[in-house]
Amino acid sequence: MKYKGAILTMSDTRSLENDEAGKEIKRLCLLNDIDIVYHNVIKDELDDISDELIKIIDDMQVDLILTTGGTGFSIRDNTPEATKRILDKETPGISEAMRMLSLEKTKKAMLSRGVSGIRKRTLIINLPGSLKGSSECFNYIIEPLKHGLDVLKGDVNRCGDN
Ligand code: MTE
Repeated sequence: MKYKGAILTMSDTRSLENDEAGKEIKRLCLLNDIDIVYHNVIKDELDDISDELIKIIDDMQVDLILTTGGTGFSIRDNTPEATKRILDKETPGISEAMRMLSLEKTKKAMLSRGVSGIRKRTLIINLPGSLKGSSECFNYIIEPLKHGLDVLKGDVNRCGDN
């Protein structure tokens, strides 16, 4: 496997056993050369989410963290805020592309507030929480994403290289 990844699901109701979106994203990652070394489900607590993201990055040095859930309008949806405050740089193009694709599927996609960005050498992407929404978004971004990961890892310097 070329890349190392982690999946973090935010939900007050789901557990590792019934995290269908997380499991599907894990399967899609494996098909795309991303080895998932960590998968966890935590509650929608702002501080807990930020702490968990920092811990994953510092302890595991993964190339990619995919989060699912907690991007909507519910009072307990805190994933974008928890992510934004630990980022060194935002990567708005990825989130804009996912919303653009998703709007073609459902107008409700405008309700997803997901963000993405880089902390140290790790890219973090907020996917929506549903199985359908998260897999649609993943499949749309995965090819250019791999190129971005190569650049982030320092394996590729120019966009023309691959
Ligand atoms: N994106 C895609 N591609 N397909 C979908 O079905 N559902 C949307 C949106 N993004 C959807 C989607 C809906 S209904 C909501 S409320 C938001 O994601 C936020 O979901 P979350 O709070 O579970 O993250």
